[in-house]
Amino acid sequence: MNGESRLVPFGFGVSPAARDVAELHERLLPRSPVVRLGRHFAEEFYYGILTRRGYIFGAVSYRAATAVGFIACTLDARGFMPAAARRYPLQLARVLSKSLLFAPGRLGVVREVWRIMTERRRVAAVERCGEVLSYGVSAEHRRAASGHSIAEELTRYAFSVFEAHGVREVHAIVDTDNAASRRFLERLGWRLTRTQVPGWATPSIEYVWRPGEQLSDGHDFQQPTG
Ligand SMILES: CC(C)(COP(=O)(O)OP(=O)(O)OC[C@H]1O[C@@H](n2cnc3c(N)ncnc32)[C@H](O)[C@@H]1OP(=O)(O)O)[C@@H](O)C(=O)NCCC(=O)NCCS
Repeated sequence: MNGESRLVPFGFGVSPAARDVAELHERLLPRSPVVRLGRHFAEEFYYGILTRRGYIFGAVSYRAATAVGFIACTLDARGFMPAAARRYPLQLARVLSKSLLFAPGRLGVVREVWRIMTERRRVAAVERCGEVLSYGVSAEHRRAASGHSIAEELTRYAFSVFEAHGVREVHAIVDTDNAASRRFLERLGWRLTRTQVPGWATPSIEYVWRPGEQLSDGHDFQQPTG
């Protein structure tokens, strides 16, 4: 905590305020498949069931009562979504039906997610391979505006969880044209591992970090206590 922001972890039985994190995700990452599948999918399934059941974990950063940043991760990059689909087929069918009823064109997004998952199984060869799935901070709370990197605080929190669970490597897929995110990851010491990631509608690249490799010193990181 930096005196103004408060980090609230979720996952492993604890749900986030699903509306808060889904709203942030939608506003900050409108091209994300999770967003394009619609609010029912994001709130009820992705940030609902999947966080309660431990498929996804992360944290939300609050300033007063306002959610200003989030990070969402998985300990199982290869199989978290297929495993969840097998375990909760009826719940998934229900949210997808609602989603497609409102916008039948979302069938293309379902196909995209399927391609992404198939590709992930093929390339994430290492067992216990984690992934940072999404993260973002509202523009007015980014380091350039506030002097404090909430993104870095969230990322370091996620890494403490990856390390505690013995994850051997962590991946992050980023839109190729996302210069701020690329700069952010590279500054922390992530390494570019692929310059093209098949399956994604938007051209994407992939970074990797292995626990044991020291993350670079940040600008102003303080250990989260919240
Ligand atoms: C990525 C993000 C979380 C970074 O938050 P932040 O508070 O700006 O983080 P930091 O300042 O610690 O690091 C960002 C770095 O990118 C740089 N940067 C910011 N905007 C940039 C831009 N448009 N082009 C190039 N570099 C940029 C910053 O100067 C900083 O680099 P520096 O440390 O050398 O000064 C934020 O930009 C964001 O929420 N973006 C929208 C959501 C998103 O793209 N998420 C990632 C994909 S899942």
